[in-house]
Amino acid sequence: MFRIRGAVLERIGSPRPYVESRPISVADLDLEAPGSDEVLVRVEAAGVCHSDLSVVNGNRVRPVPMLLGHEAAGIVEQVGDRVDDRVDDRVDEVAVGQRVVLVFLPRCEHCPACATEGMTPCQPAGAANAAGTLLGGAIRLSREGHPVYHHLGVSGFATHAVVNRASAIAVPDDVPAQVAALLGCAVLTGGGAVLNVGNPRPGQSVAVVGLGGVGMAAALTALTYPDVRVIGVDQIPEKLSAATKLGVHDTYTPQRATDAGVKADVVVEAVGHPDALQTAIALTAPGGCTVTVGLPPPDARISISPLGFVAEGRSLIGSYLGSAVPRRDIPRFVSLWRSGRLPVESLVSSTIRLDDINAAMDHLADGVAIRQLITF
Ligand SMILES: NC(=O)c1ccc[n+]([C@@H]2O[C@H](COP(=O)([O-])OP(=O)(O)OC[C@H]3O[C@@H](n4cnc5c(N)ncnc54)[C@H](O)[C@@H]3O)[C@@H](O)[C@H]2O)c1
Ligand SMILES: [Zn+2]
Ligand SMILES: [Zn+2]
Repeated sequence: MFRIRGAVLERIGSPRPYVESRPISVADLDLEAPGSDEVLVRVEAAGVCHSDLSVVNGNRVRPVPMLLGHEAAGIVEQVGDRVDDRVDDRVDEVAVGQRVVLVFLPRCEHCPACATEGMTPCQPAGAANAAGTLLGGAIRLSREGHPVYHHLGVSGFATHAVVNRASAIAVPDDVPAQVAALLGCAVLTGGGAVLNVGNPRPGQSVAVVGLGGVGMAAALTALTYPDVRVIGVDQIPEKLSAATKLGVHDTYTPQRATDAGVKADVVVEAVGHPDALQTAIALTAPGGCTVTVGLPPPDARISISPLGFVAEGRSLIGSYLGSAVPRRDIPRFVSLWRSGRLPVESLVSSTIRLDDINAAMDHLADGVAIRQLITF
């Protein structure tokens, strides 16, 4: 057991601004040594994602107190003994001293969902995430003897994390920590939605609705395809100019895109609000596919015309963690980054301190940030 410093969400649904209501406290807590099939990681960088905010505001109800943060990277400091044989052949990739990307939806490699090449989220991992434990059921965090829940098996807003080894993917040394952190959620989710689900052909177009970290990563990934036109849609003008700077070919507000009759073959919705999904469906061309990655509250509903899907041969599909197999896909994104075609660093809109986490949640809720990165 040793002392770490981390950002703990104390209560759900606090009023804004969070800099005043302070739902998250940054304080010392206790972390147990890694158990079987777990690793201890010294966190170097962690990105602030809307899915963290969704726990703070209650859109995604999770147990509290919870140490937040699910997009992070760091250096392995200790490796627990191996018990699970099925992932044994790959655990050698994770050794002391290596940099790892932490992923928020590990794959146990045992359940039927894990045989779907990433298309279906791992069942035990989903259950562990909902319960606030690591894959395998452990809780390694506590404060004055009381348990503190893990966020999506990562809890990366802390100086150290213990995670299941299936949640830690090794990356080569030349991948800097700030890039590695963003690979874990924004890039794997937004990029994976393009690579694994939308997969545009030459001559096609990709539209992205919602240009935060996830949507901008989707747009950057779409720009790596030859002869694919990329369209960015957001309601905040600064997001549209940021997208233009990154090379996105056309940008629109949702209203202007609908008025102009914009249509794209692949449309990625990366907002988490039903209005945005309606926009995304309206922008999908005949024969095209709407890929939804946003996470609205469970009771959110949309209204659609079934006829449009039939008569125009369109489809609508959800994608969790970019329908990725992290061990397969993180190396694909590393190669794209290394070739200079995927400038992951450009997703970082500011670098902040762990103590500024409540203000960071306000900035995110205002929609002004792309990715705020906490460095340790
Ligand atoms: N499926 C997954 O595995 C997964 C993983 C990570 C995040 N998410 C979800 O993806 C969503 C995006 O995450 P993020 O961190 O990029 O969020 P973000 O808050 O950084 O970005 C959201 C963007 O959407 C824009 N927006 C808001 N309403 C809009 C509307 N009606 N039309 C167009 N644009 C609108 C905002 O201006 C903002 O730029 C969230 O719902 C998040 O929870 C899903
Ligand atoms: Zn995320
Ligand atoms: Zn599984």
